[in-house]
Amino acid sequence: MTKIVVLPGDGIGPEIVAQAVACLELISNATGLGLAFEEHDFGGIAIDRHGVPLPDATLQACQAADRVLLGAVGGPKWDYSPERPEAGLLKLRKALGLFANLRPARVLPGLEHLSPLRPEVAKGADVLVVRELTGGLYFGEKVLEADRAVDVCSYTREEIERIAHVAFKAARSRRRKVTSVDKMNVLATSKLWRPIVEDVAKVYPDVELDHLLVDAAAMHLVTRPTAFDVIVTENLFGDILSDEMSVIGGSIGLLGSASLGDGSAGLFEPIHGSAPDIAGQDKANPAGTIASAAMLLDHIGAQTQARLLESVLERTITSGKRTRDLGGDLGCAAFGAAVRSDLEQALQAQEVRA
Ligand code: NAD
Ligand code: IPM
Ligand code: MN
Repeated sequence: MTKIVVLPGDGIGPEIVAQAVACLELISNATGLGLAFEEHDFGGIAIDRHGVPLPDATLQACQAADRVLLGAVGGPKWDYSPERPEAGLLKLRKALGLFANLRPARVLPGLEHLSPLRPEVAKGADVLVVRELTGGLYFGEKVLEADRAVDVCSYTREEIERIAHVAFKAARSRRRKVTSVDKMNVLATSKLWRPIVEDVAKVYPDVELDHLLVDAAAMHLVTRPTAFDVIVTENLFGDILSDEMSVIGGSIGLLGSASLGDGSAGLFEPIHGSAPDIAGQDKANPAGTIASAAMLLDHIGAQTQARLLESVLERTITSGKRTRDLGGDLGCAAFGAAVRSDLEQALQAQEVRA
């Protein structure tokens, strides 16, 4: 049995997670995978019910679980709470040691017209952002006074080395190119970052390495997205660049992610937020959460099931069944049901057992 802790969270979180869990249940039952799900309060809902975004019971359940599946947290209701929902997410990532955040984005074949870029620019783009997740400005010392505020950005050699290794290893199963993104013309942390990435690169002579300053990288992502394979970067740059990159394929609602550490722990979540503007209206695209569920399957060693879910999800979207963010007319639940109906057909067509 593999225990999955499910954290629906806030806003569109519960709607999108329900669709992803239903896909996992279907695959698990059909292929004898033995997934078991356990839901816990996290984020704003946990503030309402328990006074804090990450209650001890939720943290302990995540630590005891095999993997964690998350929707999204936050919303205007909690923007000024003493401890925000987002702070709970940072605590959870840190507590589980999840220093590597993998965010893959692709322009799906035939869907170039959904990109805000010209189709010939977007066509074939396929990028993996490897974002450092437990260092940098997010976790440095913070001071907030009436007329002055401080956020410290700090990185150690070890933190940079381990994320660089993740990026080079990932590149080996892709197109063998890593672009390291920093701001070494200004920031001390970037001056440390660049030579360390160069050193790590020596262990991977079969992988090409280049460097870009983050401002130029933001520009190149939209002028020549196909020039990128793996991007490795620090926490805040990775946060910003991955949202930018996500819309190249048509919508932020498409992207999933895996947050991983040294051991087997893993948290899987779409890269977008709780989308308060469309919450509770059955308008959200659950594709990014379903893609995260496929990454979860891959991480527990169920590669066949992972490839199946990934390919069916793509096929459902490219066959024209789409939510509104992609110009379609399906609601969140109807899109999820369409994916499961395509999954059932695919499962019948090919015998998949765990
Ligand atoms: P957001 O990603 O929630 O929304 C940005 C825009 O994208 C909105 O117009 C939204 O409707 C749209 N969108 C997002 N996901 C979508 C989906 N699946 N389908 C269709 N459209 C989608 O970003 P925001 O509005 O800046 O943040 C809202 C809240 O979410 C904030 O409290 C923020 O801190 C939080 N947040 C949480 C996470 C997380 O839990 N990992 C990530 C990002 C933001
Ligand atoms: C993300 C989010 C989070 C981040 C917030 C909600 C703390 O934007 O997962 O991309 O900045 O890491
Ligand atoms: Mn973000």
